[in-house]
Amino acid sequence: MTASHASWRRALLSLALVVSASFVGVVLLGGGRTTVSGSGRSVDAASLTSQDSPIPASQLAAGRTLFVQNCSSCHGIDASGGNRAPPLLGVGGATIDLWLSSGWMPLAEPTAEPERKPAKFDRSGVLDIVRYVTSLAPSFGNPGIPLGLDISHANVAVGFSLFALNCAPCHTITGAGDALADGIQAPPLHGVTKTMIWEAVRTGPGNMPRFGPGTLSSSQVDDIVGYVVKDIQHPVSPGGLSLGGVGPVAEGFVGLFVGVGACLLAALWVGDRTEDDEKGDQQDHGGHGDPEGLNGNEDGTSGNDHNELTHA
Ligand code: HEC
Ligand code: HEC
Repeated sequence: MTASHASWRRALLSLALVVSASFVGVVLLGGGRTTVSGSGRSVDAASLTSQDSPIPASQLAAGRTLFVQNCSSCHGIDASGGNRAPPLLGVGGATIDLWLSSGWMPLAEPTAEPERKPAKFDRSGVLDIVRYVTSLAPSFGNPGIPLGLDISHANVAVGFSLFALNCAPCHTITGAGDALADGIQAPPLHGVTKTMIWEAVRTGPGNMPRFGPGTLSSSQVDDIVGYVVKDIQHPVSPGGLSLGGVGPVAEGFVGLFVGVGACLLAALWVGDRTEDDEKGDQQDHGGHGDPEGLNGNEDGTSGNDHNELTHA
């Protein structure tokens, strides 16, 4: 190998390291602070979130019609259940919203497995049904729909740890979902809204455990939702991460400097390794650190080049 080959190789390695290290820098810096904007909603929140508030009958007519047409054949005309389906009295708005938004309900047959499908009803139809069913009985503390769920302050790094601990065992760390025992499927978490994630965590649909306030605080749930929406559903952000605080450009520069620092160290290390390799061609390379590597510096590098010249 000639001197120019070696230095080219080193330059290329350095460049690659700069790029990857800067990327890591940006991601690490962004990880804890990334924000996801919440969206407000302009429905009559009170009747959907605080489950037990009285609602005028006129506001229930639309939901009642939809329920009678689509649900009562299995769940009973008064939602009290039967041999085809469980009662819906008191389940809470979050459960009904989740099962409709995920397309699990309505089932075609009582014996069919609920599967994710496009929702049968538009948003206002879902809210009408929720409003009607929750008006039939007190909800016994079961959660309502988290309207206007704001995860802009979610700590995505904390969310990641909580997700790894509580959710990944079933949904996998990438959120791709997995087959559990007895043919139960933990579904993929792509394509679910932040509201659905919140509702699933707090209500524990089907075979999923319920994570109540004693297990996860509301800010912990927000952190998990923020992590799923931000990092699992949108892992790459080609337009640059829109970070809070000092903004993407400044943070990019900080990331770059952290990256360059790491890269310089790495380049020095690579240089020393190269020296080792070339010295020890017939010996085993065993990965012993060159003691001089610890104070690797310009002198060491030029010495290396000199060796190569004399060998060539
Ligand atoms: C063909 C029968 C059928 C129809 C129609 C149907 N359901 Fe269901 N529903 C079921 C069965 C069966 C289950 C239990 C599924 C399970 O646990 O796997 C269920 C479960 C549910 C649950 C979960 C209850 C809980 O406590 O976890 C909700 C909520 C629900 N249905 C709402 C609705 C709504 C609202 C409609 C109308 C839009 C509807 N269903 C239409 C059969 C039906
Ligand atoms: C013991 C396994 C298990 C754990 C732990 C678990 N889930 Fe689930 N999850 C499931 C199963 C199974 C379903 C499907 C529900 C059913 O059985 O009908 C599900 C459904 C969901 C859904 C709805 C998906 C859809 O298709 O609409 C979301 C969102 C979700 N889980 C998020 C989470 C989050 C976030 C955590 C961690 C806080 C978590 N899950 C923990 C097993 C699990």
